[in-house]
Amino acid sequence: MELRKLVAGNWKMHGLASDIDEIRGIAAASRQYAGVDVALCLPAVLIERAVRAVPDFPIGAQDVHQAEFGAHTGSVSARMLHDAGASLTIVGHSERREAQRESDPEVRAKAEAALSCDLGVILCVGESEEVRAAGRAVQTVRAQLEASLPGQVDDAARLAIAYEPIWAIGTGKVPTTTEIGEMHAALRGCLRRAFGEAGARIRILYGGSVKPSNAAEIFSVGDVDGALVGGASLKAADFIPIVAAAAAPVT
Ligand code: 13P
Repeated sequence: MELRKLVAGNWKMHGLASDIDEIRGIAAASRQYAGVDVALCLPAVLIERAVRAVPDFPIGAQDVHQAEFGAHTGSVSARMLHDAGASLTIVGHSERREAQRESDPEVRAKAEAALSCDLGVILCVGESEEVRAAGRAVQTVRAQLEASLPGQVDDAARLAIAYEPIWAIGTGKVPTTTEIGEMHAALRGCLRRAFGEAGARIRILYGGSVKPSNAAEIFSVGDVDGALVGGASLKAADFIPIVAAAAAPVT
Protein backbone atom coordinates (compact mmCIF):
# COMPACT_ATOMS: atom_id res chain seq x y z
CA MET A 1 0.00 0.00 0.00
CA GLU A 2 1.41 3.40 -0.98
CA LEU A 3 1.16 5.70 2.06
CA ARG A 4 1.55 9.46 2.13
CA LYS A 5 5.17 10.01 3.09
CA LEU A 6 6.32 11.73 6.26
CA VAL A 7 9.67 13.50 6.36
CA ALA A 8 10.51 14.59 9.89
CA GLY A 9 13.58 16.47 11.03
CA ASN A 10 15.15 15.68 14.39
CA TRP A 11 17.15 18.70 15.46
CA LYS A 12 18.54 16.85 18.52
CA MET A 13 20.37 19.35 20.80
CA HIS A 14 20.60 22.07 18.17
CA GLY A 15 18.59 25.24 17.78
CA LEU A 16 18.38 28.69 19.35
CA ALA A 17 16.01 31.62 18.94
CA SER A 18 18.26 32.78 16.10
CA ASP A 19 17.29 29.64 14.15
CA ILE A 20 13.58 30.53 13.99
CA ASP A 21 14.16 32.09 10.56
CA GLU A 22 15.53 28.77 9.30
CA ILE A 23 12.40 27.03 10.64
CA ARG A 24 10.27 29.65 8.85
CA GLY A 25 12.19 28.91 5.65
CA ILE A 26 11.67 25.14 6.00
CA ALA A 27 7.95 25.57 6.70
CA ALA A 28 7.47 27.92 3.75
CA ALA A 29 9.38 25.73 1.28
CA SER A 30 7.57 22.58 2.49
CA ARG A 31 4.26 24.07 1.39
CA GLN A 32 5.26 23.46 -2.24
CA TYR A 33 5.09 19.72 -1.55
CA ALA A 34 1.47 19.28 -0.60
CA GLY A 35 1.64 15.48 -1.06
CA VAL A 36 4.18 14.99 1.73
CA ASP A 37 3.80 15.47 5.49
CA VAL A 38 6.75 17.43 6.89
CA ALA A 39 7.53 18.11 10.56
CA LEU A 40 10.40 19.33 12.74
CA CYS A 41 11.12 17.82 16.15
CA LEU A 42 12.86 20.52 18.17
CA PRO A 43 14.43 20.96 21.60
CA ALA A 44 11.58 21.41 24.11
CA VAL A 45 12.41 25.04 24.89
CA LEU A 46 12.13 26.03 21.23
CA ILE A 47 8.73 24.41 20.61
CA GLU A 48 6.44 27.20 21.69
CA ARG A 49 8.46 29.87 19.89
CA ALA A 50 8.50 27.81 16.70
CA VAL A 51 4.75 27.15 16.91
CA ARG A 52 4.14 30.89 17.17
CA ALA A 53 6.41 31.53 14.19
CA VAL A 54 4.89 28.81 11.95
CA PRO A 55 1.42 28.06 13.37
CA ASP A 56 0.33 25.88 10.43
CA PHE A 57 3.43 23.71 10.39
CA PRO A 58 3.79 20.57 12.58
CA ILE A 59 6.31 21.06 15.36
CA GLY A 60 7.24 18.12 17.54
CA ALA A 61 9.30 17.16 20.57
CA GLN A 62 12.11 14.61 20.81
CA ASP A 63 11.01 12.86 23.99
CA VAL A 64 8.16 12.85 26.49
CA HIS A 65 7.77 11.56 30.04
CA GLN A 66 5.25 8.76 30.46
CA ALA A 67 3.66 10.17 33.62
CA GLU A 68 0.85 12.70 33.51
CA PHE A 69 2.53 14.96 36.10
CA GLY A 70 4.49 14.63 39.33
CA ALA A 71 7.93 14.59 40.87
CA HIS A 72 10.02 14.07 37.73
CA THR A 73 12.63 16.81 37.81
CA GLY A 74 13.64 18.00 34.38
CA SER A 75 10.99 16.05 32.49
CA VAL A 76 8.16 17.23 30.27
CA SER A 77 4.74 15.55 30.05
CA ALA A 78 2.66 14.92 26.95
CA ARG A 79 0.07 17.41 28.14
CA MET A 80 2.75 20.07 28.52
CA LEU A 81 3.99 19.44 24.99
CA HIS A 82 0.45 19.64 23.65
CA ASP A 83 -0.11 22.80 25.66
CA ALA A 84 3.03 24.32 24.09
CA GLY A 85 1.57 23.61 20.65
CA ALA A 86 3.47 20.46 19.71
CA SER A 87 1.58 18.03 17.51
CA LEU A 88 3.93 15.06 17.72
CA THR A 89 6.92 13.61 19.54
CA ILE A 90 9.72 11.17 18.94
CA VAL A 91 9.99 8.35 21.51
CA GLY A 92 12.69 5.71 21.98
CA HIS A 93 15.44 7.35 19.97
CA SER A 94 18.59 5.24 20.28
CA GLU A 95 20.48 8.20 21.76
CA ARG A 96 18.00 8.13 24.65
CA ARG A 97 17.77 4.34 24.83
CA GLU A 98 21.57 4.35 25.24
CA ALA A 99 22.37 7.48 27.25
CA GLN A 100 19.20 7.49 29.42
CA ARG A 101 18.91 3.68 29.47
CA GLU A 102 15.31 3.80 28.28
CA SER A 103 13.81 0.31 28.14
CA ASP A 104 11.23 -1.03 25.67
CA PRO A 105 8.40 -0.92 28.30
CA GLU A 106 9.31 2.69 29.08
CA VAL A 107 9.24 3.60 25.39
CA ARG A 108 5.88 1.91 25.07
CA ALA A 109 4.54 3.89 28.06
CA LYS A 110 5.83 7.12 26.51
CA ALA A 111 4.12 6.31 23.20
CA GLU A 112 0.85 5.57 24.99
CA ALA A 113 1.07 8.78 27.05
CA ALA A 114 1.67 10.85 23.91
CA LEU A 115 -1.12 9.24 21.88
CA SER A 116 -3.59 9.73 24.72
CA CYS A 117 -2.78 13.48 24.69
CA ASP A 118 -3.43 13.77 20.97
CA LEU A 119 0.22 13.86 19.98
CA GLY A 120 1.48 11.92 16.98
CA VAL A 121 4.32 9.53 17.77
CA ILE A 122 7.49 8.57 15.92
CA LEU A 123 8.71 5.43 17.68
CA CYS A 124 12.35 4.59 16.96
CA VAL A 125 13.97 1.17 16.78
CA GLY A 126 17.31 0.03 15.41
CA GLU A 127 20.21 -2.35 15.89
CA SER A 128 23.85 -1.82 16.84
CA GLU A 129 26.73 -2.60 14.51
CA GLU A 130 27.60 -5.74 16.51
CA VAL A 131 24.08 -7.09 16.21
CA ARG A 132 24.07 -6.47 12.43
CA ALA A 133 27.50 -8.11 12.08
CA ALA A 134 26.22 -11.14 14.01
CA GLY A 135 23.34 -11.54 11.52
CA ARG A 136 20.72 -10.81 14.18
CA ALA A 137 19.49 -7.40 13.00
CA VAL A 138 15.99 -8.37 11.87
CA GLN A 139 15.14 -10.58 14.85
CA THR A 140 16.52 -8.01 17.31
CA VAL A 141 14.69 -5.01 15.86
CA ARG A 142 11.47 -7.00 15.49
CA ALA A 143 11.61 -7.94 19.18
CA GLN A 144 12.38 -4.33 20.09
CA LEU A 145 9.37 -3.10 18.14
CA GLU A 146 7.02 -5.73 19.57
CA ALA A 147 8.03 -4.75 23.11
CA SER A 148 7.81 -0.98 22.45
CA LEU A 149 4.53 -0.74 20.54
CA PRO A 150 1.56 0.93 22.20
CA GLY A 151 -1.21 -1.51 23.09
CA GLN A 152 -3.77 0.21 20.93
CA VAL A 153 -3.74 2.67 18.04
CA ASP A 154 -7.02 4.41 17.26
CA ASP A 155 -5.68 6.34 14.28
CA ALA A 156 -2.90 4.70 12.24
CA ALA A 157 -1.84 8.10 10.89
CA ARG A 158 -0.85 9.18 14.43
CA LEU A 159 1.84 6.51 14.81
CA ALA A 160 4.98 6.15 12.72
CA ILE A 161 7.88 3.78 13.27
CA ALA A 162 11.41 4.94 12.49
CA TYR A 163 13.95 2.26 11.68
CA GLU A 164 17.28 3.83 12.58
CA PRO A 165 20.29 1.50 12.57
CA ILE A 166 22.51 2.94 15.31
CA TRP A 167 25.63 2.51 13.18
CA ALA A 168 24.10 4.64 10.42
CA ILE A 169 23.27 7.64 12.63
CA GLY A 170 25.57 10.57 11.95
CA THR A 171 28.19 8.33 10.35
CA GLY A 172 27.49 8.67 6.64
CA LYS A 173 27.06 4.87 6.51
CA VAL A 174 23.74 3.64 5.13
CA PRO A 175 22.43 0.07 4.86
CA THR A 176 21.93 -1.29 1.35
CA THR A 177 18.48 -0.91 -0.15
CA THR A 178 18.11 -4.68 0.21
CA GLU A 179 18.85 -4.46 3.94
CA ILE A 180 16.42 -1.56 4.38
CA GLY A 181 13.73 -3.39 2.38
CA GLU A 182 14.18 -6.59 4.40
CA MET A 183 13.92 -4.72 7.71
CA HIS A 184 10.93 -2.61 6.71
CA ALA A 185 9.07 -5.69 5.43
CA ALA A 186 9.72 -7.44 8.75
CA LEU A 187 8.47 -4.42 10.69
CA ARG A 188 5.37 -4.23 8.47
CA GLY A 189 4.70 -7.86 9.41
CA CYS A 190 4.92 -6.96 13.13
CA LEU A 191 2.53 -4.05 12.70
CA ARG A 192 0.00 -6.20 10.86
CA ARG A 193 0.19 -8.88 13.52
CA ALA A 194 -0.27 -6.27 16.25
CA PHE A 195 -2.97 -4.11 14.67
CA GLY A 196 -4.45 -6.04 11.73
CA GLU A 197 -5.47 -3.91 8.78
CA ALA A 198 -4.50 -0.68 10.60
CA GLY A 199 -0.95 -2.02 10.74
CA ALA A 200 -0.73 -1.62 6.96
CA ARG A 201 -1.41 2.12 7.33
CA ILE A 202 1.23 2.91 9.97
CA ARG A 203 4.16 4.64 8.31
CA ILE A 204 7.63 3.15 8.60
CA LEU A 205 10.35 5.78 8.23
CA TYR A 206 14.02 5.15 7.60
CA GLY A 207 16.58 7.21 9.54
CA GLY A 208 20.37 7.32 9.56
CA SER A 209 22.54 9.53 7.32
CA VAL A 210 19.67 10.46 4.98
CA LYS A 211 20.92 13.20 2.66
CA PRO A 212 19.76 14.88 -0.55
CA SER A 213 22.10 12.55 -2.47
CA ASN A 214 20.63 9.25 -1.18
CA ALA A 215 17.02 10.16 -0.35
CA ALA A 216 15.43 9.20 -3.68
CA GLU A 217 17.04 5.76 -3.63
CA ILE A 218 15.91 5.15 -0.05
CA PHE A 219 12.35 6.30 -0.82
CA SER A 220 12.19 3.88 -3.76
CA VAL A 221 12.40 0.90 -1.36
CA GLY A 222 9.13 -0.89 -0.59
CA ASP A 223 7.55 -0.04 2.79
CA VAL A 224 9.73 3.06 3.21
CA ASP A 225 7.07 5.64 4.00
CA GLY A 226 9.35 8.57 4.76
CA ALA A 227 12.44 9.53 6.70
CA LEU A 228 13.61 10.76 10.07
CA VAL A 229 16.46 13.12 9.32
CA GLY A 230 19.06 14.39 11.78
CA GLY A 231 21.96 16.53 10.56
CA ALA A 232 20.49 17.24 7.14
CA SER A 233 17.31 18.70 8.69
CA LEU A 234 19.06 21.70 10.25
CA LYS A 235 19.20 23.73 7.05
CA ALA A 236 16.47 24.20 4.49
CA ALA A 237 19.08 23.85 1.73
CA ASP A 238 19.68 20.21 2.76
CA PHE A 239 16.26 19.30 4.11
CA ILE A 240 14.01 20.56 1.33
CA PRO A 241 15.64 18.42 -1.40
CA ILE A 242 14.86 15.39 0.81
CA VAL A 243 11.23 16.52 1.06
CA ALA A 244 11.21 16.97 -2.73
CA ALA A 245 12.54 13.43 -3.19
CA ALA A 246 9.68 12.12 -1.03
CA ALA A 247 7.19 14.04 -3.18
CA ALA A 248 8.51 12.68 -6.47
CA PRO A 249 6.65 9.69 -7.90
CA VAL A 250 8.51 6.42 -7.33
CA THR A 251 9.96 5.26 -10.63
P1 13P B 1 21.48 11.66 10.99
O1 13P B 1 20.50 11.95 9.88
O2 13P B 1 22.27 12.86 11.42
O3 13P B 1 22.30 10.45 10.71
O4 13P B 1 20.60 11.31 12.29
C1 13P B 1 19.58 10.38 12.18
C2 13P B 1 18.77 10.42 13.40
O5 13P B 1 19.21 10.01 14.47
C3 13P B 1 17.44 11.00 13.30
O6 13P B 1 16.68 10.76 14.44
